[in-house]
Amino acid sequence: MHYFILALLGMLLPLFAGLVQANVEKTIFLAPPAATIPSEEPDFDDLGLERLSPQSSVVRTQLNASFPTAEAPEGTDSWFFLENLTPGQRYEVRVCWLATQPTAFTLTTHPLAATIEDSTFLSSLSVYATARLAALDARLQANSIPRRASGRSSKDGIDPAPTTDSILFLRVRAAADYFSTDEALMRDVPPVTVDLILDPFLWNLFPRSLVPTAGWIVAVAVVAAVVARWVVGEFGRVIEDARQERDVQGDKKER
Ligand SMILES: *[C@@H]1O[C@H](CO)[C@@H](O)[C@H](O)[C@H]1NC(C)=O
Repeated sequence: MHYFILALLGMLLPLFAGLVQANVEKTIFLAPPAATIPSEEPDFDDLGLERLSPQSSVVRTQLNASFPTAEAPEGTDSWFFLENLTPGQRYEVRVCWLATQPTAFTLTTHPLAATIEDSTFLSSLSVYATARLAALDARLQANSIPRRASGRSSKDGIDPAPTTDSILFLRVRAAADYFSTDEALMRDVPPVTVDLILDPFLWNLFPRSLVPTAGWIVAVAVVAAVVARWVVGEFGRVIEDARQERDVQGDKKER
């Protein structure tokens, strides 16, 4: 029975390992205490950043990447806005990308005040925001437009604009991680299509979105155990039958 489970795990584990190593990078953090965002301040929407919140926890977008250089050893910066977090709650943000676009990602979260006070962060953030606003690509902007369209005062909005809120900036650095004989590919790194996923931890222990996976593993183990027990039982019966038959034949010969 143990062999059966081992064989099953042996078949399943490489699948998971492959997925994890090939194309997921993540950061785990605690949501900061709520900070008041002065409503007179320039609207955070004006930065044109894409937003992630527990209510809209998945963003599919394209990130610029570049080969590591001395100034930017971890590649090109992209910035996102995490909002409507629960203070003190543990979260993780994952970035998932295709293995066909080899990229090294570095994810970090930064509190509002620290980001604004640090000139390196602030200039990186404003370079990114300026480029995004300039591009005004309807597809890229899609995620930052709905709130404005639905208005700040609407009460039925699924993603209300924060005034007092636990918020963080998320910085994603993307460095190209390949070598190609194609000169164009070595000169201009194509943008990488990614999914960014904000995932709260259950009881601050376990990423919520992994619960179905864990459930599956338990279900597979239970089914395997039942099947294995049945197989062992059948084998036992067959062996017992064979032994009885032999004994009967032995008895006949003795006579
Ligand atoms: C991404 O790269 C393209 C091409 O270099 C540039 O035009 C665009 O502004 C960049 N986007 C961001 C958000 O930096």
